[in-house]
Amino acid sequence: MAASVALLGCGAMAQLYAGLLQQQGITPLLLARPLTSTQQLSLTLELLDGNALQHTVTIQPSDMPAAVDAILVFTKAQQCLDAVAPLLSWLPNSTPIVLLHNGMGPQHQLAAQQPAHNIWVGSVSDGAQRLGQYRVAQRGLGTRVAGQLEQSTPALPSCLQALEFSQSDDITTVLWRKLSVNAVINPLCGRDRVANGALLAPKYQQEIAALCNEIVQLGQYLGMHESAAACQQRILAIATATAANRCSTLQDLDAERPTELPAISGYLLQQAQYFKLELHHHQRLYKQLTLLESVS
Ligand code: PAF
Repeated sequence: MAASVALLGCGAMAQLYAGLLQQQGITPLLLARPLTSTQQLSLTLELLDGNALQHTVTIQPSDMPAAVDAILVFTKAQQCLDAVAPLLSWLPNSTPIVLLHNGMGPQHQLAAQQPAHNIWVGSVSDGAQRLGQYRVAQRGLGTRVAGQLEQSTPALPSCLQALEFSQSDDITTVLWRKLSVNAVINPLCGRDRVANGALLAPKYQQEIAALCNEIVQLGQYLGMHESAAACQQRILAIATATAANRCSTLQDLDAERPTELPAISGYLLQQAQYFKLELHHHQRLYKQLTLLESVS
């Protein structure tokens, strides 16, 4: 039987990956709720090379059983647990569920709540921009990594291999590093309404360094040891690779949707509070963004 992979979420990243799966000869199936019947959607993906991929994808209610090889979850962090819930009654325990949202928190919650399910977590830093409801532009090639939170290391699900994910046996560190990227790029680009590449300008470097210092300081308490310089270098490398991208937070603000910042900056501040640390720069930035979100 030909491979089929279900995607949860219908945003820019879900549509980007639907196109990438299609290119690999894997049929994408969108799962959504609330939805009462199966429908066909015509999606367009503008690829980095300038070509456009047009394809038709089936979308069906997520509580309707489907024969799929894996589930890729591209909802926002705050929707992830609710989005996965309807699948759990019909999905075989062995079918990989791969959580790919920004931020941290839901990954550990789902793994703790559903120990019998085959849960993978990952980090992707592709750039994708929604140009219309069903039209998305690929804005940059990022890194793609996945792994399991426990120490066991089964082989990477085949759809992730086809999508050129690398496997990590220390995915917590990978998630932490991605969190640090999102905790700097997303609120800054959201606040100043700029594309990621704008952060390469000299005027941002002092603020980025201060944000990195605080991340690294908190990281020491969580066993995530690295220098502030390495943290800043990683963030600038992602800003370079996705320079043309308007980050997900900016896209959410533009569309007046809730951002993922509670699972990004909010998560950092929560952890800092636990260790009685003050992250002044993140706190101020998060407050500014919360205010922006409330008036947009
Ligand atoms: O949230 C995003 O937009 C992405 O995670 C990233 C890597 C910052 C690229 O825009």
